[in-house]
Amino acid sequence: MNPAQQKQRWKYSLIAFAVVIVCGSLFYTKYLVRNITNAERTRAQVWAMSMKQQMASDDNDNIAYAMAVRDSSIVPSIVVDEKGEMIFTKGLDPNKTLNPIPQPPKKKGDPVAVYDLNYFKAQLAIMKDQHPEPIKILLPLGTKGYWLVYYQDSPLLTQLKYFPYVQLSVIAIFLLMAYSSFSSSRRSEQDQVWVGLAKETAHQLGTPISSLMAWIELIKDKFNADNDQLVLEMENDVRRLEIVADRFSKIGSKPQLEPYSVYDVVKDFVEYFRIRVSNKISFEVKGNKELMAGLNIPLFDWVIENLLKNAVNAIEGTGSITVEISGNKTNKQVFIDVIDTGKGIPRSKFATVFQPGYTTRKRGWGLGLSLTKRMVENYHNGQIFVRDSELGKGTIFRIILKSLTHDS
Ligand SMILES: Nc1ncnc2c1ncn2[C@@H]1O[C@H](COP(=O)(O)OP(=O)(O)O)[C@@H](O)[C@H]1O
Ligand SMILES: [Mg+2]
Repeated sequence: MNPAQQKQRWKYSLIAFAVVIVCGSLFYTKYLVRNITNAERTRAQVWAMSMKQQMASDDNDNIAYAMAVRDSSIVPSIVVDEKGEMIFTKGLDPNKTLNPIPQPPKKKGDPVAVYDLNYFKAQLAIMKDQHPEPIKILLPLGTKGYWLVYYQDSPLLTQLKYFPYVQLSVIAIFLLMAYSSFSSSRRSEQDQVWVGLAKETAHQLGTPISSLMAWIELIKDKFNADNDQLVLEMENDVRRLEIVADRFSKIGSKPQLEPYSVYDVVKDFVEYFRIRVSNKISFEVKGNKELMAGLNIPLFDWVIENLLKNAVNAIEGTGSITVEISGNKTNKQVFIDVIDTGKGIPRSKFATVFQPGYTTRKRGWGLGLSLTKRMVENYHNGQIFVRDSELGKGTIFRIILKSLTHDS
């Protein structure tokens, strides 16, 4: 399993684990809430029944009544008669409801208890909304009618209902912060490692390359071989080595960008590249020759080289690779499209291909595109992405750079 797949697997198992935690905590709170809701309903019922009891007796010290009132005081309730008129309330704002003591059933025409009608209605609406089924209490024999006890969730229950959401959001924010700080520090660590490695490589290659150059000069002198084919080829290869070392050293420092015609630079590189790959693949560079952009040649060549190599790898047998240069005047942009007729990239992998370690090749390292992305974004202030791809048909990679042509 390569690192990209491993990361993907980790991501999915973490997501699954998080889903389990969230569901578990929501279900458990739901369970608690249901139990407490039942308990509160019982309390409201016990309270109303003890009120009924109290009304029938004259004994104000009735212990059952006192206990019921004490125990149930956290559950706001309203008792109404069969006509919907309030008989008494509990747990509501005492300034707006004046009726703590049970009253004997009223005769017709008697004024109802004193209370703030709007407040009462609003509270009743909340209760009906929360618990549409009131508790029905039949009145003692001989008295007609019944009571309906409406009740509301206690503040405790309300808090418990919202608790998991508050808790989970706090945890989510915490994890997000932790994740972003960890991943940014990991990224800067990675940067340090690969920049350091590049610098060190360039440094170590430097000495043997310059002495190779000197040896070649000596050989030319000694054997009078200025135009010898072998020596010339050797010189070419050492030059090539020099370019590689130069690229590595450029990675380590902020490279200078200089204005070039994008077309010319790409054309030069493609000319150099095409003779080194199978002649079953045809190359073409086309588009606007005037467009200028700030480039660092060793690094930009490397970018184009990576894209061309991938295109070559994607083509099995014959095919063509086209590099098209175009621009957008209004946005002052240069577009470089690398178009191949290769095997294509599935849509779901358009972003993944740029991750280090992602490869579909047997001998691939999956580093080409991640380096390319860095060179485009960090050293050329540009963008690179898969513009389009179709399986079996081909792929278009697009680089966007800032145009210097449209500057003036
Ligand atoms: N032009 C292309 N056409 C199809 N697939 C591509 C193309 N360019 C890149 N890819 C896919 O992206 C993967 C990663 O590319 P890269 O980072 O260069 O690593 P490597 O070339 O070592 O595999 C490749 O293995 C391939 O699956
Ligand atoms: Mg590659």
